[in-house]
Amino acid sequence: MQIGIDKLGFYTSDLYVDMAELAQARNEDPNKYLIGIGQAKMAVIPPTQDAVTLAANACSKILTEEDKKQIDLVIFATESGIDNSKSSAVYLSRLLGLSHYLRAVELKQACYGATAALQLAKGHVALHPDKKALVVGADIARYGLHTKGEPTQGGGACAMVIAANPRILALEDTCSYYMDDAMDFWRPFDHTEALVDGKFSANIYVEFFQKVFEAYQAQTGIRIEEFKALLFHLPYTKQGLKGLRAALAGVDPLVAGKLLRQFEFSRQYSRQVGNLYTGSLYLGLLSLLNLSDSLKAHERLGLFSYGSGAQGEFFSGLLMPGFEKMLDPVFYEQLLAHRKQVSVAEYEQIFSALDMRAKDLVLDVSQDQAPFVFTGISEYQRQYLAR
Ligand code: COA
Repeated sequence: MQIGIDKLGFYTSDLYVDMAELAQARNEDPNKYLIGIGQAKMAVIPPTQDAVTLAANACSKILTEEDKKQIDLVIFATESGIDNSKSSAVYLSRLLGLSHYLRAVELKQACYGATAALQLAKGHVALHPDKKALVVGADIARYGLHTKGEPTQGGGACAMVIAANPRILALEDTCSYYMDDAMDFWRPFDHTEALVDGKFSANIYVEFFQKVFEAYQAQTGIRIEEFKALLFHLPYTKQGLKGLRAALAGVDPLVAGKLLRQFEFSRQYSRQVGNLYTGSLYLGLLSLLNLSDSLKAHERLGLFSYGSGAQGEFFSGLLMPGFEKMLDPVFYEQLLAHRKQVSVAEYEQIFSALDMRAKDLVLDVSQDQAPFVFTGISEYQRQYLAR
């Protein structure tokens, strides 16, 4: 029985800041951000969106009433949690109107969380092939104003329905994973911004990729030319390119050229949104599926997931016949094209408005047209609106 990604959805806010403008405001050469880091626009997440609403908005694009009846597992991967005890999966399940007869949990291991969720969901569907699992990765990447990490912020969510006989990507059974205790990126309690050792994180990411890719190849005997594309976690798109270049050392230039070409398709959405943390790898997958001009059924995609701290995993999947019917490239083109540009000053004001400690808070949601919005806090209880 094949199990894998049956549906894939994505949502980001309707605001962005232009990276060339941000570079100028920070006295940097715009090409450092545009080329050196590989980002053109950065999603700005208004106070009326949080991890829960970003996830709900991503799910609303893909879920039918039939899916909702069949889903009996919801795994919410995030490192932007909104409560120390209650999981975002419970809020999400209620907002989406899912059945009460399900398991709802939140999962954390930095940007790797959604991959762990995907693999756990696969095991669940193997035991219960008539059921479906909902996996989401939703985050707001925050490093702080005027920090080195600032140009690698962003936010949004990816949602996946995991099912038997999937219509997009059948996951192959072999995957290789590697863990080590590393302080490359972390966020202590009470910090709303991450702490990062940027150069260290860039190097350890590549090291982990090499370890798991070699292990995968040793286990399967699959050669690099047997992949149509290699997809990477994209904290910023240059980082994925560093991973890919490590894989291409000594590889036939024809093969390398093909993989580099597919990588360009996979990083287009991330270039316009920035870091999604848990969702980034899957945004790359969606970007490739929607934009590549040469994908065919039965071709193999390789995926590298990395979560600082640190966990890496390499796994693969085969494109299913008819996968293109499950896509909606025009919708995502419009989602990204119709966003409103904000100035650097407006972005700074929105960034600074985050309040995770309020007892009571009333937010004006009139400017946010998303189907799901965060309306405020009442007696420490978060309030949401489904339109
Ligand atoms: N034109 C083109 N490229 C330029 C440039 C210009 N004018 N100026 C600089 N660059 C290049 C640099 O050569 C460098 O490229 P390289 O990484 O291939 O060597 C890149 O732009 C970044 O420049 P650098 O001076 O290293 O930037 P920085 O010290 O400001 O830090 C990050 C950049 C990415 C390390 C920092 O933004 C960060 O820490 N971000 C968070 C990282 C993260 O998400 N970690 C978790 C990962 S999973």
